[in-house]
Amino acid sequence: MGLLIKNGTIVSSTAEYQADLLIEDEKIKEIAVNIPEGDHEVVDAAGKYIFPGGVDEHVHMGPFDSYGFETSHAALVGGTTTIVDFAPQDQGDTVINSFHRHKDEKAKGIASPDFSFHGMVMDTSEALLDEIPKMVENGIVNLKFFMAYNGTPFHVEDDLIFKAMQICKDYGITPWVHCENGDMIEVLKEEAVKNGVTKPIGHYLSSPPTVEDEAVQRLIYLAKLADCPVFIVHNTTEGACENIKRAQDQGQPVYGETCTHYLTIDTSFLEKENFEGAKWVCGPAIRPKEHLEAVWKAVKDGTLMGIGSDHAACVGGFEKAKKRGIDDFTKIPNGVPGMQDRLNMVWTQGVEKGRINRQDFVRLCMENPAKVCGIYPQKGALLPGSDADVLIWDPNYEGTISVENSYEGTDYNTFEGFPQKGIADKVFLRGHLMAERGKLVGEKGQGQYVKPQPYTVCYSNYHQKKAE
Ligand code: URP
Ligand code: ZN
Ligand code: ZN
Repeated sequence: MGLLIKNGTIVSSTAEYQADLLIEDEKIKEIAVNIPEGDHEVVDAAGKYIFPGGVDEHVHMGPFDSYGFETSHAALVGGTTTIVDFAPQDQGDTVINSFHRHKDEKAKGIASPDFSFHGMVMDTSEALLDEIPKMVENGIVNLKFFMAYNGTPFHVEDDLIFKAMQICKDYGITPWVHCENGDMIEVLKEEAVKNGVTKPIGHYLSSPPTVEDEAVQRLIYLAKLADCPVFIVHNTTEGACENIKRAQDQGQPVYGETCTHYLTIDTSFLEKENFEGAKWVCGPAIRPKEHLEAVWKAVKDGTLMGIGSDHAACVGGFEKAKKRGIDDFTKIPNGVPGMQDRLNMVWTQGVEKGRINRQDFVRLCMENPAKVCGIYPQKGALLPGSDADVLIWDPNYEGTISVENSYEGTDYNTFEGFPQKGIADKVFLRGHLMAERGKLVGEKGQGQYVKPQPYTVCYSNYHQKKAE
């Protein structure tokens, strides 16, 4: 006996059509018109859309003083069935050892959605270069570097990024890079403090769009010189998108994503009274309105291929964590929660407002995230043989986003008060019903690890070019 979803409209990145979908043994068994009911359990999805479960390619479950996998069921409630975390390197240990420790101690048996990882470099030792050849067999196909965050273990100099790129390309590993000019941020921060700026807007003033535009272009040059595909994380500016588009037009394998808040929150939020602006302090900084439209254009035209959440929910939330910087914006911890409402926001602000269509929604929030993480089509697709991660979406729901309904563990919601049109009506993880209309109904801690494959989609044009 299987689970048969009938009468819904199935949506992929290229098509939508009326069909039934049969789930057996945690996999999608069949998609066809009029599958006989037999002895299957039937779910009626009339009037609803059927999407692949959401895939969030960018979450932080742990470092940055943020909540870990114990709150990851928030993703399921919002319709995201797979999250891909950045496994932090422990100082003095290898990326690979740290990755296994993070996976086995922090995620296994605790994660509620299925999960995978990117490696994350947090030690500037050149020992990194020796372990790259062994990364793929250990499950690391994307490797994160930070050009920003000077003076912390996250920051990596250009020379190490460049040397790593020269090796990564031989193993099908894609460097994922946080592009901001860390040196400039430090200078601007000092200047702002000297000028008496204490409020959260100081965070934006010391990391303006140009520090990102410059680092994105520099990274593109480094990647060109190393002849290595790259993926640029959380792009937020018109200039960054232009730089990426120009490189793509020249045939360079440069890819990128943006994140929900860079499409929906602008600098006026940072200026809210009573220190409220601190809620939106994150890296890169929230941008002025005009950048938001430029980034929507970039996701629509394919310059950027995914929308992640960059979920990083500070333990202590606003009252106990963000307020550490009440007299000094440089002390406000970075990061915003967002894995629960990513799909709600992209649907409401994107599809409902005509900025993107339903196919784009699937492309940006499900398919491409799975492809860039090397886990497609096990994840991110409604295909026979794929994991039965199925999201039944009711487009007729109308409500308001609020921390009251949040499972993210924080005392505020990044998108508080935003209207919500549409809701994850039913969320199936490998065929098991996990969430219904904003409520968790499944058991926590049932998430399974998904091992990624190297040579993700970021390598497809690369090989074509080499073959010419
Ligand atoms: O503020 C943020 N985004 N914290 C997470 C770290 C990052 O840079 O992705
Ligand atoms: Zn980052
Ligand atoms: Zn991040």
